[in-house]
Amino acid sequence: MALRRVVMFGEDTLRKTSRKVEVFDDKLWVLLDDMQQTMDQFGGVGLASPQVGILRRVIVVEDSDTEKRVELVNPVITKEVGQQREVEGCLSSPGEWGYVKRPERISLTASNRYGKEFQLDAKGVFAITICHEIDHLNGKLFTDLADEMVEDEEELEKAKRSRNRKCKRKKKRR
Ligand code: NI
Repeated sequence: MALRRVVMFGEDTLRKTSRKVEVFDDKLWVLLDDMQQTMDQFGGVGLASPQVGILRRVIVVEDSDTEKRVELVNPVITKEVGQQREVEGCLSSPGEWGYVKRPERISLTASNRYGKEFQLDAKGVFAITICHEIDHLNGKLFTDLADEMVEDEEELEKAKRSRNRKCKRKKKRR
């Protein structure tokens, strides 16, 4: 396993569209392992492969209710219900925060690292995380969607607390 460099806002890679994974081989597993390790190092609840410079449809997300990580290969959202608006940030843009509107609940299909397809339902902060990371696969950044950026430190803490209240487990989050 190896730590990968996190690509930052302003770099072209983050604006490109990622390609579908066709081969579920050891190259993919190394990428996933490295993404896991990069998340361990830098924190955050999600990472998309373009953020480590690889344009493949691969994301790793943490379920904010169970704190378990899920690897999603070729994720496709099949259903969106409701709306929520919470503060978001991104490992590729430390210190930048903004309010984004997202669906409250989503359903999706994806494959695991061995190519086995499965279905997943997500709500609340987990749904936000998945939508944010899938956007990365399409070259879209949260700042494109944010209707308000949060600059004030106190305002930001309040916004994070409000978002974290949606999580079942109350671990302190970034
Ligand atoms: Ni991001």
